[in-house]
Amino acid sequence: MAHILITSGPTRQYLDPVRYLTNASSGRMGAALVEASLALGHKVTVVSGPVEVEYPAGARVVPVVSTEDMLTICREEFDSCDGLIGAAAPCDYRPVHVEPNKIAKTGQPLELHLIETDDIVATLGAEKGFRWVVGFALETEDHRLRALAKLERKHCDLIVSNSVSAMDSLDNEVEILNPAGTVLKQIAGSKRLVADEILAVITERLIR
Ligand code: C5P
Repeated sequence: MAHILITSGPTRQYLDPVRYLTNASSGRMGAALVEASLALGHKVTVVSGPVEVEYPAGARVVPVVSTEDMLTICREEFDSCDGLIGAAAPCDYRPVHVEPNKIAKTGQPLELHLIETDDIVATLGAEKGFRWVVGFALETEDHRLRALAKLERKHCDLIVSNSVSAMDSLDNEVEILNPAGTVLKQIAGSKRLVADEILAVITERLIR
């Protein structure tokens, strides 16, 4: 059995006290992965952005808001884990300055200056040592090629390539790729079914 760290849901990057950047991730794929992992007897820590889905009681849930918070917590938690599944959709950009007060309308266009946030999977992937890392890739074109490039860049042992239709949906359609670019499995169905199949591949190939 393994102790698995799962990131899930979106993050928020506040522009001012009331407005933020985010995305449509529901956390459902993450929750399905938590259920599938627990069903196999694994121990699970889930680091989740703000979501409506509920995670099973058997998992330890650490709620976070921003991508920076998610990275800080994941770094702490990864120490005691055997592997990471990066199912979250963290915001890739954050404002250079967060305004302390609500930005007032002026009748003029508002320019936002954004910089990239740190990549959690890439950071933990580079520091993984003997642990394993599974990433997700959501692409609108050249799915396999781009997913494989991400697997390499983020030091993943496997990558799950899914389509945009997965966002905020009950179902998913994925391919699991290994570092050689081989498609190990194609899965379509409910997120729980997809999660069970992903966990089967992880258990067979990565968990000792
Ligand atoms: O580069 P892209 O966002 O498409 O990569 C998706 C993978 O990277 C997912 O596994 C996602 O959880 C992870 N990711 C991350 N930190 C970010 C952005 C993406 O861990 N800041």
